[in-house]
Amino acid sequence: MELLERDGEREILESAMEEAATAGRVVVVTGEAGIGKTALVSSVVHGRPVLWGACDPLITPRPMGPLRDVAREAGGPLVEGSREDLLSAVLDELRAPAALVVEDLHWADDATLDFVALLGRRLPRSRGCLILTCRPEQRPEVRRVLAALPRGSRCRGCTPRRRRRARSRTRPRGRPCARSPGPRWSARSAA
Ligand SMILES: Nc1ncnc2c1ncn2[C@@H]1O[C@H](COP(=O)(O)OP(=O)(O)OP(=O)(O)O)[C@@H](O)[C@H]1O
Ligand SMILES: [Mg+2]
Repeated sequence: MELLERDGEREILESAMEEAATAGRVVVVTGEAGIGKTALVSSVVHGRPVLWGACDPLITPRPMGPLRDVAREAGGPLVEGSREDLLSAVLDELRAPAALVVEDLHWADDATLDFVALLGRRLPRSRGCLILTCRPEQRPEVRRVLAALPRGSRCRGCTPRRRRRARSRTRPRGRPCARSPGPRWSARSAA
C-alpha cells in the first residue's frame, strides 16, 4: 500500500530501528482512531524481523494478550514460563536485532502493561526496538507506563497528523485549505 504524507514519521521509525542494532530503542506512536498508526508501523517493519501482538477491546481480560499473539507466531521459549522467563525470551529475540510491535496499548490488560514497563526499561541496555501504538485517550495506568519509559533518544514519541488529502474531503466548500504544519515528533529530554 502506498503511504501518503508520512515521510517524516517513516524516517524517525526507520532510524530508531537502525539505532536498535547497537542499543535498544522504544517508539510510541500516538494518534486518534484511523489516523494511520497501524499502516505506518506496518510499512516500516515490512521485510524486517518483527514480533507483532495486539491488545483488544475485550469485556473479560486476556492477560498478556499481545505476548500470546507473539508466542503463537514464534513458538519456542515464548510460549510458556514465568514473566521473568518471558522477559528474557523477548529480550533474546529482540537482540537479533528485531522489533516487537504492541498495538493498541490503550486496551492493554494490566499484565501486558507491566510487561511493557519492564521491557521498555530493560531494552536500552540491550538491542532491538519496541514499537507501541496507542490512541490519545488513555487510562491512568497506561499513561503511567508510558511516562516511565526511558527518556531521550532511547524513547521517541510520534503523533501522526491528519493527512491533508484526507482533511480536504471534509473541508467546507469555498474555504481556504490551511497548510498542515506536518507531523509532530517529540524526543523526550535526556533523563
Ligand atoms: N499515510 C497513509 N496513506 C494512505 N492511506 C492511509 C495512510 N494511513 C492510513 N491509511 C489508511 O487509513 C485507514 C486507517 O489506518 P490505520 O488502520 O492504520 O489507522 P489506526 O491509526 O491504526 O487506527 P486504530 O486506532 O483504529 O487502530 C486504513 O485503511 C489505512 O490503509
Ligand atoms: Mg491500528
